[in-house]
Amino acid sequence: MAPVHEQPFDSDAPDASARLAAAAHAVQALPRRRDQLLPALLTAQHALGWLPREAVVHVAEHVRVPVSEVYATATGYSELRMERPVPGTWHVCTGVSCDLLGARALLAAVEAALPGWVRGIDCQFLCALAPVAVDDAERLYGRVTAERVLALARAETEGTVR
Ligand code: FES
Repeated sequence: MAPVHEQPFDSDAPDASARLAAAAHAVQALPRRRDQLLPALLTAQHALGWLPREAVVHVAEHVRVPVSEVYATATGYSELRMERPVPGTWHVCTGVSCDLLGARALLAAVEAALPGWVRGIDCQFLCALAPVAVDDAERLYGRVTAERVLALARAETEGTVR
């Protein structure tokens, strides 16, 4: 699988074409079959950090599935990102299990302390460890509290190891 880039793909960046080509190359290593749709989407996201329109179209062409069906699939999985992630942004799961264990209050407390730094996100399939937070490198943290998330934020800001 292609290496993960620290920076999410940016269509305005000088390396945009090269990154799309590298993602396409990685996708082309997969068989050209419908059952490769999810692996292809994950491969493209791994290379680009998210799924820009160009990657979705390429995946559709490669696995021979209509673009509309690829979008429908991609938007159905919380692991797949259809928007460019903002570096430094964290997420707090607001799925049912996390919500029942206070995720919305946690999210509000973190948002109050660090406006614009955290967003809600759908279930991350780690419900047994609810409430769950996700950092900007896709690392998952279970049974978090607002205090723990804010401590992690401070550690990140100060560059200390988590
Ligand atoms: S509801 Fe939060 S991880 Fe499933």
